[in-house]
Parts: sequence; structure tokens; C-alpha cells
Amino acid sequence: MAETILVTGGCGFIGTNFVRHMLGKYDYHIINLDKLTYAGNLENLQDITGDDRYTFVKGDIADTADLERVFERTIDVIVNFAAESHVDRSIIDPDAFIKTNINGTFNLLEMARKKKVRRFVQISTDEVYGSLGATGAFREDTPLAPNSPYSASKTSADILAIAYFKTYGMPVLVTRCSNNYGPYQFPEKLIPLMITNALAGMELPVYGDGLNVRDWIHVIDHCAAIDLVLHRGEDGNVYNIGAGKEKTNIDIVRLVLEILGRPESLIRYVKDRPGHDRRYAIDSGKITKNLGFRPSVDFAEGMRQTVQWYVENKGWWERIKTGAYLDYYEKMYGNR
Ligand code: NAD
Ligand code: DAU
Repeated sequence: MAETILVTGGCGFIGTNFVRHMLGKYDYHIINLDKLTYAGNLENLQDITGDDRYTFVKGDIADTADLERVFERTIDVIVNFAAESHVDRSIIDPDAFIKTNINGTFNLLEMARKKKVRRFVQISTDEVYGSLGATGAFREDTPLAPNSPYSASKTSADILAIAYFKTYGMPVLVTRCSNNYGPYQFPEKLIPLMITNALAGMELPVYGDGLNVRDWIHVIDHCAAIDLVLHRGEDGNVYNIGAGKEKTNIDIVRLVLEILGRPESLIRYVKDRPGHDRRYAIDSGKITKNLGFRPSVDFAEGMRQTVQWYVENKGWWERIKTGAYLDYYEKMYGNR
């Protein structure tokens, strides 16, 4: 019988792409446990709901009763994507970040320990390393120095996961990836926010001087790297994941406008994010050397395809950019 993988947060951006990747390549049974927060969208995987290798369960990783219910079935592997993921929201209201990212991961680790799952992959982030100066890159042994409530909560989960390997010998692995872009990303994050605002003829709010640097990877390359870690990674190890595409925010925004053929007059510099990390850059030498990881998507082409996806899926983001989203936007950008 095929093994069962519990994917948490599978209705979010990366989880959606990962579920598709796995069903396209393997014969596993995938259980997608998702709370369906503002960021979780059932529409993302609507077309595979009839696939008998796929089961959706609405539930909260921070709620042990929900986990007990899911674990009535045999789960072989856990890939934990479920998280509150947006730095700006963590600055306004960190509470859910602590509950989901820390307590939720703890509950999952405990359940995995009790049920003796074969493998536990914790999806962490390069933000655990904090901020870089003008040179250098994060390695797996770079000291952890998170700066936002989001990154602090992800760091807590990440080191808790490693502690379960060290203390209980649990088969835990941790991935720390850089900034993702691609289809199905919620339009609160830089790239989809800029694309959808530009398409709607709205201003593009650039924080501070626009010279903060992020290191971009296409989401399908991130999913391929997780697949490698899941199948070939070594227990107790951390793997950085990146594609070596460092860009300033203003260059990203200009590129989006250029692809869409919209004017740069839409750009508006706004008040900076508090505690804004200046630069991220990932050294992914370990996963390259040990697991043979090679990103496959060319950045310029990946960006063109991503912009095209948002052009072709206007209904998807227009349905999101209503109601609670508009309240969030007003609160976040209204007085900036
Ligand atoms: P997302 O916000 O798009 O999706 C998060 C998903 O988790 C949503 O479907 C949401 O409903 C679900 N969720 C939230 N709280 C939950 C809970 N308590 N129980 C069950 N489900 C819950 O996030 P994303 O961008 O897809 O990120 C996925 C993971 O990857 C996160 O752990 C994030 O920290 C990590 N990560 C993201 C990036 C990036 O660039 N987006 C980079 C590196 C790592
Ligand atoms: O590095 C990995 C992380 O990347 C993930 O762990 C997070 O889940 C993910 O949200 C992302 O965090 P960032 O804070 O880097 O992403 P965000 O898209 O929010 O912002 C990217 C950069 O763009 C950052 O320097 C802030 C800036 N920005 C963002 C928004 C939303 C703007 O200038 N204007 C904006 O409106």
C-alpha cells in the first residue's frame, strides 16, 4: 500500500504547489490538513478533489483534538507547511503566529513522536538567520538571529524540531528557503501585491528606500528541493534552499511594471516596515553538494510566467481582494 503523507497548510501558496508536485510525480496518499485561515484557499486544489490519492481535512495544528482525529489514520510522513507567514501581519498582531507556528509545530512533533512517524520535515525559512550586510550569505551554521515576531516564531519551531531529533532521536529534517514567487501566492506578499495592484491601476507601495534585498526562488524549485530532502535528506540535518537570485525590491517592482507595460509613476515610496531586514542571501551549497539540487527555473522567464498567471487568473485574486482583505489593506497601507 502506498504511504500516507500528511501535508499541513496545503491550501496556502507553497503547500498547494507541493501537493500538485507530489501527486504529479508519485503515488503517495496525501492528506492535506489546513485550518483555512485568510491565506488558505480551497479553490487552489479544487481540480484534484476527485483524486482518490488526495484527502482534505479542515483542522488546526494548534488544536490537539483536530490532530487526534487526523492521526486515527496511519500517517507515515509529515511535511509541516502550516504557518502564519506574513511578516507585516506579525507586527500588527503576533498572537496567531505564536499559536500556530510554535504551539502548532509542538503539537505535531508530539503526535509524530507518539505515533512513530517515519519522517518529519519542518518547513522553515531563511528569516531565522536575521539580516545580512552588503556581503556574505546564510549558511546552515550561521547563528540564528530572527528580528520579527514571524521569524522569531519560525525559529522557535525550527529549533524545537531539531531538539526532537537530538533528544528523542526522531527523524526530523529542517529546510530553510529564501523568498518564493510563483502561482497561487496570496496578494499580500511583494510580487503578487505589485502585480495585482498594477493590473488594477493602483499605487505600488515600496517600503523605505526600496533597496532591501531578497533572494528569489520559483516555488516549483522550492518544492523539488523539499522532495529531495524528504527522500534523500539525512535525519537531524538542516538544508538551506535558494536559487541565488538576489534583487532589490525596487528592481522587482520595476520588472513587474516592465512586463505588464505599466508606467513607473505607479510606484509610491512609503514608510518602512519596523525592524525591516536589509538583505537576505542563501548559500545552498550543502543541498547542491549532498543531494544534487539544481534550480530549474530561469528568473526572468519565471517572473514572466508568474505575471502571466495573475493576468490569466484575475478571478482568483479579485475574489481574494474583497472584504477582510480590503480592511487589512486599509489598516496596513492607509496611513503609510
Ligand atoms: P501561506 O500563508 O500562503 O499558507 C499558509 C497555509 O497554512 C494556509 O493554507 C493556512 O490556511 C494554513 N494554516 C495557517 N494556520 C494553520 C493552522 N493553525 N493549522 C492548519 N493550517 C494552518 O504560506 P506559504 O507562503 O505557503 O508558506 C508555507 C510555509 O513555508 C510556511 O511555514 C512559511 O514559513 C514557509 N516559507 C515560506 C516562504 C515564502 O517565500 N513564502 C519561504 C520560506 C519558507
Ligand atoms: O525569506 C523567506 C520569507 O519570505 C518567508 O519566510 C515569508 O513567509 C515570506 O512572507 C517572505 O518574507 P518577506 O518579508 O521577505 O516577504 P514580503 O513579500 O512581505 O516582502 C518582500 C520585500 O518587499 C521586503 O523587503 C518588504 C518589501 N515590501 C513588501 C510589501 C508587502 C514592500 O516594499 N512593499 C510591500 O507592500
